[in-house]
Amino acid sequence: MTTTERKDPAFAAEAGEDERHFEASLRPERLVDYVGQESILNTLGVAIEAARARGDVLDHVLLSGPPGLGKTSLAQIIAREMGVQCRKTQGPAIERSGDLAAILSDLEQGDVLFIDEIHGLPRKVEEVLYPAMEDFELDLVIGQGPSARTMRLALKPFTLVGATTRAGMLNAPLRDRFGTSFRLEFYGVPDLMRIVNRSAKILHLTLAPEGAREIARRSRGTPRIANRQLKWVRDFAQVHHPGKPVDEHIASEALALHRVDAAGLDPMDHAILIAVLDRFAGGPVGVESLAALLGEERETIEAVYEPFLVQSGYLERTPRGRMATQLCWDYFGRERPAGPRQGRLL
Ligand SMILES: Nc1ncnc2c1ncn2[C@@H]1O[C@H](COP(=O)(O)OP(=O)(O)OP(=O)(O)O)[C@@H](O)[C@H]1O
Ligand SMILES: [Mg+2]
Repeated sequence: MTTTERKDPAFAAEAGEDERHFEASLRPERLVDYVGQESILNTLGVAIEAARARGDVLDHVLLSGPPGLGKTSLAQIIAREMGVQCRKTQGPAIERSGDLAAILSDLEQGDVLFIDEIHGLPRKVEEVLYPAMEDFELDLVIGQGPSARTMRLALKPFTLVGATTRAGMLNAPLRDRFGTSFRLEFYGVPDLMRIVNRSAKILHLTLAPEGAREIARRSRGTPRIANRQLKWVRDFAQVHHPGKPVDEHIASEALALHRVDAAGLDPMDHAILIAVLDRFAGGPVGVESLAALLGEERETIEAVYEPFLVQSGYLERTPRGRMATQLCWDYFGRERPAGPRQGRLL
């Protein structure tokens, strides 16, 4: 099995080794355990059932969306529901075409090959995927120089499940070879409550509905964050309120301790928004300038932080850069300067 650990900075900031174990223990295993994303589940459910009934291999699936929304979980569920193996790897970890060729030729009929962060596949490697996805064939170059020849090798039909936090960075020829493409959306409070309640059961934690709501409300629409916060709340409750069901107050105290504010914004969200407001007079500001000011990777800001800030109405993406919305000015209690916006560093 080709399992490689993720190395990208966004994820490093997101989860450590312990958290990965914790996450794995809470991962939904079947379609019925997977909460929310109804329209994706409906489409996928039909495709899986039809493919299974025909004894066919499922079409290649592309999953995109911000971190922690359930792409990896869904890839594993697809394999389980199809009754096949799931081989996992990640784009940037496959450095040579030969590595990918080896993985592909090792697949069994119908297997799922899950390539995480597929936008990070080196271009040369990506080209190996085209005939593999389309015709289940591998073009091997034997030898070098003028005597080099190409050999075609038949592969067993497989399903490629690609995941990406940066759908925009995917090359069109690759994107077009996926039979289905799903964009995962942020989760609403009711769905996050269901996720948190399910996790609390697994963790044998007594969680009052108001406690679940408080965590759900503050988790940036993201199951991974909801589960991580549940863990903080559990630890806090165990130390400070042993034996008591976790209610809104306990949850709220625990989250405040971890500097998650009432709207669920964390210290990095604050740093980004306050930089836009105070250093760039509300914008527009280019993401490069923001990243430089905050000492953060541009990719991390774009893939990890911005989507939620835009979706929840604090930040706006304009052709000239990022801008604070009125909600943002109000939330941080700042007066919006009058007159045309300068968008320069103050
Ligand atoms: N729909 C869901 N229902 C229940 N739990 C979920 C769901 N989606 C995600 N989770 C929980 O959130 C955790 C993170 O999900 P997952 O690892 O699948 O996200 P991801 O989209 O692959 O993130 P990344 O882009 O960072 O790899 C899982 O361990 C799981 O416990
Ligand atoms: Mg993942």
